[in-house]
Amino acid sequence: MVLGSRQSDHLGRYYTHGKVAALLVASMNVAAPKTVIDLGAGDGTLVDAGAKLWSRARFVTVDIDDKAESSRLPVTRGGAFRHFTGDALDVGLDHRLGLHWGKACVGLCNPPYIKPRWRRHFGEIMEEVGLSHVLPHAEDIPADILFIAQNLRFLKDGGRLGMIIPDGLISGERFMRFRQSLIESHSIDQVIELPRNIFRRTEAKAHIVILTKAATQVLHIPVRQLSSTGELSDAMTISPERGLLRLDYGYHSSVRPSRTSRVVRLSKLIASISRGTLSSRTRKNVGYPVFHTTDLTAGMTEVPSEFALSKEFQKVVAGVTARAGDVLVARVGRNLSDKICRVDRGVIVVSDCFLVLRPNVGEEDNLFKVLNSPRGRVAIDAIAHGVGARFITANALMKICF
Ligand SMILES: C[S@@+](CC[C@H](N)C(=O)[O-])C[C@H]1O[C@@H](n2cnc3c(N)ncnc32)[C@H](O)[C@@H]1O
Repeated sequence: MVLGSRQSDHLGRYYTHGKVAALLVASMNVAAPKTVIDLGAGDGTLVDAGAKLWSRARFVTVDIDDKAESSRLPVTRGGAFRHFTGDALDVGLDHRLGLHWGKACVGLCNPPYIKPRWRRHFGEIMEEVGLSHVLPHAEDIPADILFIAQNLRFLKDGGRLGMIIPDGLISGERFMRFRQSLIESHSIDQVIELPRNIFRRTEAKAHIVILTKAATQVLHIPVRQLSSTGELSDAMTISPERGLLRLDYGYHSSVRPSRTSRVVRLSKLIASISRGTLSSRTRKNVGYPVFHTTDLTAGMTEVPSEFALSKEFQKVVAGVTARAGDVLVARVGRNLSDKICRVDRGVIVVSDCFLVLRPNVGEEDNLFKVLNSPRGRVAIDAIAHGVGARFITANALMKICF
């Protein structure tokens, strides 16, 4: 039933249907948790479903709305329930709840899908759980990611988070790094796509996501779909690499590779791969231009023409050169996956911070297109090592599959 848009409620109060709550809790596969938290508990539908399954657990609920039904749970349901009326994004929430960070067994959460006014301590919350880099501008972090971060702070390693999160986080290109971070640091155990009419007061699309904190990512992520009539589809499995791209059942079931379609290894598109030889320092001592990663600025997809060597220099240069059609991929540095470009004319010398990929004949456009696509960038991020200044190897690059 559609009664309004999400934006119409400044606290994002859209409550979960009891059946969805029951499905979420059952999908978590948790036997007997001691402590269950629900940040943004609203009318308490999630903890209510939890209490039916986990009779010995103690439940801690938080909601900023002093009229939220969950505030009455300690009275109506007794001592197993504790409630705090206040801000779930409070940096010192552990003191307010009398619950140490890293001690909860289960987190249940349907966070508000709103964009809160940025407060400085949000940066600390994000930093602490390794999510500070997931969006280019920290001020753009939506409340749902902040709620996930607070849940991760409260959960112990191996603890499980069952959440209902909006479609954007699951399928949006903007949130690819967010998904990557969850997959690399935790295990996304299951995703269930919910039908549009699932919330009582909005048509927004959302998904149930079950995650285990600090666990090794399962190799085959089961994704399912709940129909508007309440039937749960069979699971199809996707690899974590595909999960970085999107985690929604609708997408993967529509693009599922047929038995005849091929997975292409990057090495199949490439005739040769070589590494530049001149360092950024030596390039200053040679008389000809040498293209270095700092010359490749944001949004640049082709090597600027001033780096094309004159005929005279072409005869005398030492080291690796690149020619028209070659693709250059930064090998070391920050934001590696943003540093990809191609040579459209002439011959150029590159520094040792680049790998030069020479495409097979006829694959010139294809090679550049796959590497420069969101999928290609995620694949490069995934093979990069190190923190701060990261690096990739030619070997790992050749093994990337699309
Ligand atoms: C989408 S509703 C979900 C309610 C409930 N968990 C459910 O699934 O039905 C989000 C809830 O978060 C609460 N909320 C919004 N901002 C909050 C904040 N900063 N701290 C605590 N609760 C907040 C709202 O009052 C609302 O009850």
